[in-house]
Amino acid sequence: FAPGLLTGRRVVITAGPTREAIDPVRYLSNHSSGKMGFALARAAAEAGAEVVLIAGPVDLATPERVTRIDVVSAQQMYEAALARSPGADLFIATAAVADFRPAEDAAHKIKKQPGQSEMTLKLVQNPDIVAGVAGSDKRPACVVAFAAETQNVEDYARRKLSKKGVDWVVANDVSRTDIGFGSDSNEILLVGRDHSEPFGPAGKQQVARFLVEAFARSLGT
Ligand code: PMT
Repeated sequence: FAPGLLTGRRVVITAGPTREAIDPVRYLSNHSSGKMGFALARAAAEAGAEVVLIAGPVDLATPERVTRIDVVSAQQMYEAALARSPGADLFIATAAVADFRPAEDAAHKIKKQPGQSEMTLKLVQNPDIVAGVAGSDKRPACVVAFAAETQNVEDYARRKLSKKGVDWVVANDVSRTDIGFGSDSNEILLVGRDHSEPFGPAGKQQVARFLVEAFARSLGT
């Protein structure tokens, strides 16, 4: 894309999974590899933006000229996102955030009791990071959520757009193994208030460049 497309712009991106501790040795998490969010961070940096990447636990190298903040839990990702988003122009929530966390993080490893054949884990809701950023005082001009769906992709994406108060939803079908979680490719539907546009299947870096161009246009650059 045009060099300097996002020069002078600040971009904050969340990526990867979160881990919700059960006890010192166990956690709840998901299969996000962080690839989609890291590809977006690289594309935004290549477009000239100042990029902050808030990453859950992933095994990926930090793209050049990107400031990375490592977090583990949804609560930590929420705090980092709300601290870094004021003054940003664009916020992109690529992370697969755990909706719930164990109500208690046990101080010691939970032991199986003699004769125990069942265990119930009580979960409580995590804060919604992207909705929190979209509803904050110093809201970035453009706030983007991803939508991991397995059916009725456009319909659910539209509902997320209004429920979360965001400007765009990038929907992907995570029931497929060739795209989405962990793979190097993705196929997306970019859903805005008044139009939607499909892209892919393509490599995640190509998808990221397509999205960065679309968000730059929406910022008026
Ligand atoms: O990381 P990869 O392996 O490359 O895979 C990429 C991906 C499949 C994880 C990515 O493309 C994707 O779809 N990310 C969103 C995953 C998700 O959790 O979707 P959701 O429909 O549950 O959440 C909707 C949106 O709300 C997302 O932008 C999510 O970041 C955000 N959210 C959700 C819960 C929460 N507590 N806070 C949030 O900000």
